[in-house]
Amino acid sequence: MSKTIAVTGGLGFIGSHTVVEMIKAGYTPIIIDDLSNSTLNVLDGIEKISGIRPVCYTLNILETTELEAILSTHRVEAVIHFAAFKAVGESVIKPLEYYHNNISGLISLLNAMKKTNVRNLVFSSSCTVYGQPKELPVNELSPMIKAESPYGNTKKIGEEILIDISKTGHKTILLRYFNPVGAHPSALIGELPLGIPNNLVPFITQTAAGWRNQLTVFGNDYKTPDGTCIRDYIHVVDLALAHVKAVEHLEKTELMYSAFNIGTGKGSTVLEVIEAFEETTGISLNYKIGKRRDGDIEKVWADSTKANTELGWKANLDLNQMMKDAWEWQCQLPTK
Ligand code: WQD
Repeated sequence: MSKTIAVTGGLGFIGSHTVVEMIKAGYTPIIIDDLSNSTLNVLDGIEKISGIRPVCYTLNILETTELEAILSTHRVEAVIHFAAFKAVGESVIKPLEYYHNNISGLISLLNAMKKTNVRNLVFSSSCTVYGQPKELPVNELSPMIKAESPYGNTKKIGEEILIDISKTGHKTILLRYFNPVGAHPSALIGELPLGIPNNLVPFITQTAAGWRNQLTVFGNDYKTPDGTCIRDYIHVVDLALAHVKAVEHLEKTELMYSAFNIGTGKGSTVLEVIEAFEETTGISLNYKIGKRRDGDIEKVWADSTKANTELGWKANLDLNQMMKDAWEWQCQLPTK
């Protein structure tokens, strides 16, 4: 009998790719999504890729009673929790909305899980909890510093809540994502562009597609080989596969709480990402160097040895594949 896994935010960028990989791995995902940052078309994409149309509830996780009913009706074994607001810049402008949605939402979910005796949780965390690490690559024992943004703080507070409740019988795995980019190779699901993108890769593909006039590179006076910031970009499919491994690990581990860095271990500068895009697509990108963006850290990349050894997970897809898949997804989007 296939195990049922509830996926909150399952129609989002990372959530939808994870639902596809959960189905491929033989699980039965149940999607819970309030469509605040996605559309039901994503469900069509999931069905076209996997041949299965998962049950999907359009619900905000703050509706605790409805959430309880779903978890008990479907005899859920574990929850993968993606549902949260995630734009760093927006969180600075709307901190209360971010704390309410991300923290009260998590607490509502945990209450529903407690009431229905669902004990296992995979939590979507972020490398933003490390801030600018003093030593690189950053590992799970690296100190967590005060987050640069309310968004990053909601991830840090979320982790602290989960550590405390792990002492009351909840078993939690925290996955600290680095920079998720790309799209499914089928180009049937990908990152949904709602408004002007904050993130680098959707801005690159939208500039190449003529939706944006020009990309601005935010600063080239950092202490890096070419002066631009370094990040650990990870293909969204590799990231989705890490969630399958985490759910499998939850069933086996005795540990009630564990955190894993989910990155490639390779850092790339902004100019290297642009170069990979141009090399892969044959398109010359229109960009200029501008001033630094407030809140940006200079460089970060992961030591993911712990995920490699304990989860049996490793990233396989390189930057060129990320750019290829991101571009093919962009090309099939309806022009603005
Ligand atoms: C990457 C680099 C920018 C846009 C993201 C998510 C955050 C977290 C970590 C999950 C930086 C530069 C960007 C542009 C640019 N993920 N850039 N021009 O800031 O690392 O954070 O990953 O929790 O939620 O936001 O990613 O893509 O915004 O920036 O030069 O138009 O690209 O300065 O150096 P970031 P990003």
